[in-house]
Amino acid sequence: MHNLIPAHGGKLVNRILTGQQRQVLLDRIPGLKRLVLNRREIADLEMLATGAFSPLDGYVSSKDYESILHSMHLTNGLPWTIPITVSVGAEHKAKVREGEDLALHDLAGKCLGILELEEIYPYDKQREALQVYGTNDIQHPGVAALHQQGEYYLAGKISLINPIAHDDFNKHRLEPRETRLLFREKGWRTIVAFQTRNPVHRAHEYIQKCAMEIVDGLLLHPLVGETKSDDISADVRMKCYEVLLENYYPRDRVVLSVMPANMRYAGPKEAIMHAIIRKNYGCSHFIVGRDHAGVGNYYGTFDAHHIFKEFDPRNLMITPLFFDYTFYCTRCGGMASTKTCPHGKESHVFLSGTKVREMLARGESPPIEFTRPEVAKVLMNHS
Ligand code: ADX
Repeated sequence: MHNLIPAHGGKLVNRILTGQQRQVLLDRIPGLKRLVLNRREIADLEMLATGAFSPLDGYVSSKDYESILHSMHLTNGLPWTIPITVSVGAEHKAKVREGEDLALHDLAGKCLGILELEEIYPYDKQREALQVYGTNDIQHPGVAALHQQGEYYLAGKISLINPIAHDDFNKHRLEPRETRLLFREKGWRTIVAFQTRNPVHRAHEYIQKCAMEIVDGLLLHPLVGETKSDDISADVRMKCYEVLLENYYPRDRVVLSVMPANMRYAGPKEAIMHAIIRKNYGCSHFIVGRDHAGVGNYYGTFDAHHIFKEFDPRNLMITPLFFDYTFYCTRCGGMASTKTCPHGKESHVFLSGTKVREMLARGESPPIEFTRPEVAKVLMNHS
């Protein structure tokens, strides 16, 4: 039997309670104070409970928070680049005490789980913004989300006692233990993960297929948590992936599954986090292309490659596969990258997301060199 890569820290976390354990907590819910989570916080709760954020089993303590900000590692020495936190304002903070359990509810009032509140601590938003995002510019979507939070963090272990219901992509929602099981069933040992938050274009397809040449299978793993308002909706993106797979990929070498996390747009730091998460899903390799998880001009095009040098590969374990800028070259007559193509920019076909959105808004189809026609049709129908 093949061994898959172990989870980050060695053991896949599972904080989804069942049976008697769940019943005991369920009975205690009516007597507990409530903490109502928003959509972003629920996505993090799901990532924690399913083990996608292993080894974290809850919101980080002030010690781990400091360690992440200072050294990009947890206090136990494992790489971790973005603190996973839940916040409250001063008013709410005055009502809760360290040592008590809080019932975690969604906005509709459904109880999802419990937080064993171990610590309440203040934090400096500006400092966190600079350390994690490299900027305190409120125009940056990750920084904007940070500044909307409450002033105190609540730390402690979480338990999920009711499933987080979704009304979309249910046949594509695999938890880390489920992707691991599927990879084992398929007899795959080396799996490359592809993170994406955009409609798939030919550069994406090209780098996935280059990677597929050297591994057993591909986990196409679009992020479907919160993204910035002008990104194309997850629903349309999924339709694009489906038509692309149907027409251009060998079905038995690809698993399409969604990742419930939010986009933070933290560029290089998020690239490390994305790699660690995919390791938890059982992947041995991870694609990092140009401006991974970037937004605007906040990061250098290849900062997300360089940051990997700051980590001991034995601690990360997952192998990053770095790709240069890729495009269709009219003179090469195919997809290429700055590493393989000798021709000038005038021969390269690549469009920015903004350009594509403008074309779609005018009712124009992006060129075949940029997007497969089946994908272009989906985008045209939904613009
Ligand atoms: S991201 O925010 O998830 O990184 P996107 O969905 O656009 O955005 O990118 C998914 C992956 O493809 C990332 O690793 C990104 O670096 C890579 N990528 C996107 N476009 C290109 C390109 N033209 N050349 C090389 N890599 C690319």
